[in-house]
Amino acid sequence: MELEKKLSKVSKRIKSSLIRELLDLKDPEMISFGGGVPDPDTFPRHEIAKIASEVIENEHRVTLQYGSTGGDNILKEQYIKLLKKHENIDNLDVDNLLITVGSQQALYLLGITFLDEESYCGVSRPIYLGAASAFQQRDPKFINVPLLEDGMDLDYLEKELEKLNKEGNIEKFKFLYVISNFHNPAGVTMGIEKRKKVVELANKYDFIIVEDDPYGALRFEGEKLPSIYSMAPERTILLNTFSKVLSPGLRLGLVVGPKDMVKRISMAKQAADLCTPALTQRIGARYLERFDLIEGIQPTIEIYREKKNLMMKLVEEKLGDIKGIKWINPEGGLFTWITLPEGFDTLEMFEIAKEEKILYIPGTAFYVDEPDNNTMRLSFCLPTKEKIKEGMDRLRKTIDRYAKEKGLEI
Ligand SMILES: Cc1ncc(COP(=O)(O)O)c(C=O)c1O
Repeated sequence: MELEKKLSKVSKRIKSSLIRELLDLKDPEMISFGGGVPDPDTFPRHEIAKIASEVIENEHRVTLQYGSTGGDNILKEQYIKLLKKHENIDNLDVDNLLITVGSQQALYLLGITFLDEESYCGVSRPIYLGAASAFQQRDPKFINVPLLEDGMDLDYLEKELEKLNKEGNIEKFKFLYVISNFHNPAGVTMGIEKRKKVVELANKYDFIIVEDDPYGALRFEGEKLPSIYSMAPERTILLNTFSKVLSPGLRLGLVVGPKDMVKRISMAKQAADLCTPALTQRIGARYLERFDLIEGIQPTIEIYREKKNLMMKLVEEKLGDIKGIKWINPEGGLFTWITLPEGFDTLEMFEIAKEEKILYIPGTAFYVDEPDNNTMRLSFCLPTKEKIKEGMDRLRKTIDRYAKEKGLEI
């Protein structure tokens, strides 16, 4: 059978994830700065195991049964308490929340709910790959807003919005997708003035703000900033997840937003999977009853902070003399973003990196338009400190070899 002829337009558009392919390289000698996955040794596995056993034995009528599409109300009530305590977010009830299979599903459902081919959505440049693939399924028009060190270039966005307004197309601009804290892949955090400006623009041009915040709790330094959601709850959809603060294997994500929007997203979810697994939701609920997720993550943050500081010190020491190199020193999260001088192509350089046994993610993976080929994402959360040291030496060797091969002066 000629499979191609059977495929839908959407399926033909879907490309295999570059990251997944790169990370499939399983070689024990390899040092990886690639994956953005948390360190499994930080998962509170004994506590989760105990709760899992209890909720299966004692609450099997719920945990082994279908649940409602909107999600487990006990989990929602617990999460509402957490948002009040740690995010100063008030006035929520269960209908403001939807429990999804990770934030990734929420991104997919947002695409289904709001985007058509003629729609516009604003995204950062570079963009989180998972959001790009989720939105791309709907084939919308992207407004790619460059990222600066304090978040999106809002002057650029404003000009684009004004252009759409003049053309009579502003109503087709559905939402702006923002990762407010410790951006994946770029590591940057949106400053307070820019958060206010986003709200101002959203009010002026009447669009939805999608604030994706999986990393906000992983702050190593600097001051915690108020969420965009807290500044404009009537037009913001906040995405949270258990993945980076408890365990990604539970696949628990949360949509927080205005009730009418949450209801619409929930309707799209019904067709996708009927409900998020009742078992993991109840495990999450009982976990939150007993433990404070944010306090629980503090020891992990200490480990990440040390690793981040080490990596950034080494970036400076080992790569700092390369003319024109730039990097982001993140205040939290899992990633730093490096821009090599013009002429570098980090995807092409990846062949040398493999020989040197060092993995990173070439920046090309994070663009929906023409990529900046000289960028790369490094993650510091998984490798040990020894591996980070050795890995940075290997990275420098890779860069030197590539520069020599290409005749680039560095
Ligand atoms: C910015 C961002 N959004 C969403 C996700 C998806 O997370 P999950 O589906 O595990 O909740 C990730 C995962 O890395 C991410 O970095």
